[in-house]
Amino acid sequence: MPVHVLDHPLAAHILTHLRDKTTKPATFRTLAYQLSLLLAIESTSDIETQEKLVETPLEPVLARVLARQPLVVVPILRAGLGMVQPFTDLFPDVSVGYVGLERDHETAQARSYYCKLPPLTGRHVFIVDPMLATGGSAVQAISLVKQHGARDATLVCIVCAPEGVAAVESAHPGTVIHTAALDRELNSRKYILPGLGDFGDRLYGT
Ligand code: PRP
Ligand code: URA
Repeated sequence: MPVHVLDHPLAAHILTHLRDKTTKPATFRTLAYQLSLLLAIESTSDIETQEKLVETPLEPVLARVLARQPLVVVPILRAGLGMVQPFTDLFPDVSVGYVGLERDHETAQARSYYCKLPPLTGRHVFIVDPMLATGGSAVQAISLVKQHGARDATLVCIVCAPEGVAAVESAHPGTVIHTAALDRELNSRKYILPGLGDFGDRLYGT
């Protein structure tokens, strides 16, 4: 499965501070924004463009602009919300859908509680969720966008566990994943090791 691990000194620096348990929510949110901005640029490096003739002050040039179809970004609530703004800041015509999934604290099974998606027929969707642990949430989110007609989905994460990558590959073979880190394993409570703890709680100070 294509897993792209972001390889940039700044990404490594930001991720280290996200992992640090002494990082406070306000700083955590800023760092999450900055790292997601790098991931947004990296994960969209092969989106469609089209030709456009423009006049520079010196001469006409046939240049390229983003294709007319707007990008679709779908955060998995709630932690995924912390990764949306870089996409909306960078891409003028982005459309945003929402999928609400919450892991049960005992079983780690994800339960769906919200779904609001724009028209997705034939579209390529970027699903954003910082943590890919067991993969249960991502697998459900990819299934949902495909049920709504999406052609395929790219998953954009901050930290992935090998177990989650394997689960996504098994349920949705060929899904491209972009991440800032591929960590070691899950613990007995299905948290990623070394990880950074509960992303949603750290993002929102809960
Ligand atoms: C976290 C995270 C993912 C999910 C990953 O969300 O943001 O959505 O867990 O775990 P999985 O791969 O085992 O499904 P959580 O359910 O804690 O909800 P929250 O975003 O509301 O905190
Ligand atoms: N969700 C998180 O926020 N962190 C983990 O380590 C696993 C799931």
